[in-house]
Amino acid sequence: MSNNKRRILVTSALPYANGPIHLGHLVEYIQTDIWVRYQRLTGQECYYVCADDAHGTPIMLRADDDGITPEQLIERIGREHRADFADFLIAFDNYHTTHSPENRHYSELIYRRLNDHGHISRRTIKQAFDPEKGIFLPDRFIKGQCPRCGAVDQYGDNCEVCGSTYSPTDLINPVSAISGAAPIERESEHFFFRLGDFENMLKVWTGGEHLQPEVRNKLQEWFHVGLQDWDISRDAPYFGFEIPNEPGKYFYVWLDAPIGYMASFKHLCDRSDLSFDEFWSPDSSAELYHFIGKDILYFHALFWPAMLDGAGFRTPSAVFAHGFLTVNGHKMSKSRGTFITARTYLDQLNPEYLRYYFAAKLNNRVEDLDLNIDDFVLRVNSDLVGKVVNIASRCAGFITKRFDGYLATEVHDTPLYREFADAGVRIAQCYEDRQYSRGMREIMALADQANRYIADQKPWEIAKRVGEDRLLHDVCSMGLNLFRVLVTYLSPVIPATANKVEAFLDCDIVTPGGWNAIQRPLTNHRINPFKHLLRRVENTQVEAMIETSKQTGTIAAKAGPLVADPIAASISIDEFNKVDLRIARITKAERVEGADKLLKLSLDLGGENRTVFAGIKSAYPPEDLAGRYTVVVANLAPRKMRFGVSEGMVLAAGPGGKDLWLLSPDPGAQPGMRVK
Ligand code: MSP
Ligand code: ZN
Repeated sequence: MSNNKRRILVTSALPYANGPIHLGHLVEYIQTDIWVRYQRLTGQECYYVCADDAHGTPIMLRADDDGITPEQLIERIGREHRADFADFLIAFDNYHTTHSPENRHYSELIYRRLNDHGHISRRTIKQAFDPEKGIFLPDRFIKGQCPRCGAVDQYGDNCEVCGSTYSPTDLINPVSAISGAAPIERESEHFFFRLGDFENMLKVWTGGEHLQPEVRNKLQEWFHVGLQDWDISRDAPYFGFEIPNEPGKYFYVWLDAPIGYMASFKHLCDRSDLSFDEFWSPDSSAELYHFIGKDILYFHALFWPAMLDGAGFRTPSAVFAHGFLTVNGHKMSKSRGTFITARTYLDQLNPEYLRYYFAAKLNNRVEDLDLNIDDFVLRVNSDLVGKVVNIASRCAGFITKRFDGYLATEVHDTPLYREFADAGVRIAQCYEDRQYSRGMREIMALADQANRYIADQKPWEIAKRVGEDRLLHDVCSMGLNLFRVLVTYLSPVIPATANKVEAFLDCDIVTPGGWNAIQRPLTNHRINPFKHLLRRVENTQVEAMIETSKQTGTIAAKAGPLVADPIAASISIDEFNKVDLRIARITKAERVEGADKLLKLSLDLGGENRTVFAGIKSAYPPEDLAGRYTVVVANLAPRKMRFGVSEGMVLAAGPGGKDLWLLSPDPGAQPGMRVK
């Protein structure tokens, strides 16, 4: 390897701070993390930064819903995201937030420079406004009847029933999804980034090697349609950064989000001796890579390079886009239990299983990939446990018991060892090119060879024969040497196991230098006793994961009333029967200090008392509720909220706000009765 270390800065897209990390997100973070670990292992100087994307209307509204401030929400979600990533072994050098001083600094700087160079224009536009809530409504917060087929409760600009697309102003009887009020049109001045000013620059940049070939083609279509000005401002109230000298105007979340890459790196620089400019100045010799999903290409392949160029920064070396995750061939679905959060997975399964499974499926194209649950179980058990870990468990015991932990002084099958060591060049190239599935195939083909070697030699039979100690020693040492090479090749994918193997074999694997060290086999080298490495996946674990996802997914895991999801997939009667609906009598209803929307309800379920927090304060004064009968979801997993634990959910109809109607049974129904 040459002495010229590459200096590389890598990012993954910044997850929104209004929801949990799920397995779809993890495609990206695992893909990136494998690449970064590979670069570090082979001696490159590689930094990996990310952050929570903390601004925007949905985050503001979600905080409102939960009765907390946006700052409190992003703090809590940020903590959850960090824990999820850490437990999935995602090795960020820094994980920051876009709601940070560094990000404000660079957002203002970039905006000022673009403005000074005449790349920002202003004009007044008309937009839907919620007169009750007092905010402008993003498209996805307007719903109404589809102008084409008449389906009710369609959101924004496309119909989930007939698939037609339209402008939200075409909706019949449009209402705000927030307050239920009919939106009105209102004018306001907006700021626009003049993307067209960068047409020449972008044609050159996107035509080069910075993008995957299929992405380059997609961009040709966008150039053909013409580069439109981009609306980068939003009106107060908005959770974000106010535009300098423009009171009441805020940067649109997507303006400051990619700048969050810089901000996170700057935050890292400030705590180390890294130089920000060496990575971001126009003449930087460092490499800069963004891993993203295909849905956010427009932002990364057009707006972002143009913003950087216009503000006097370097442009990315490349943007690597991946496809979307499906589960069992379908879009992830809450009702099918395939909308699986990182935490639900981790509660049952080892993160390295998923890392390996994704690696076995990922390539460098923008293709969707499928997590087939049965295939996942088979693949992990047969490859990781059956083919790799087994080698060690079959050879290690003899070395410890019969040879005092020492490996033999000779390599039993030198050509086979050479073949293993030589494969490193090809496997390295697979990692470098993000052809992980090809890499995993190469590694598993080697594992097959190692297993064939052991099956041919049969150390367990040699061990029974007298006077063949030498052979037994050589064969088991050979097996462990092959195992070491395999684990080294897999180490970007299964770093925790590689770490354990490093301790077991007492040699560098994940420690820098490990990748090259395999050129020399371990001989006359003392190893430690073998300890369990990876368990098989059990079907029961996978089933439990799906079951939990169904329970938290079928009924929106939200405080307060269930608001029917117009686009929910149909469910079977068996799935419906899992929901334990009961008649409840409200014995007490109280206001909750510090919560705008919640009431604390004490419920009698026929001998059993429950406390439930419900978001119905805007519709019901608490004194009207005591003594009333209603319907409660009795088997909803208890949910810890800021104000206490909610042990169920009461049912109500309507869009929310004042327009909420609590369900009540006809007279005669008794507390505790099952509702069917
Ligand atoms: N906040 C923006 C990104 C800003 S980057 C400056 C965003 N956030 S996200 O939480 O919706 O998604 C984060 C990343 O996860 C995106 O790259 C997105 O494509 C990816 N994925 C989200 N769902 C996914 C799947 N189901 N499958 C694969 N990737 C997915 O977009
Ligand atoms: Zn329609």
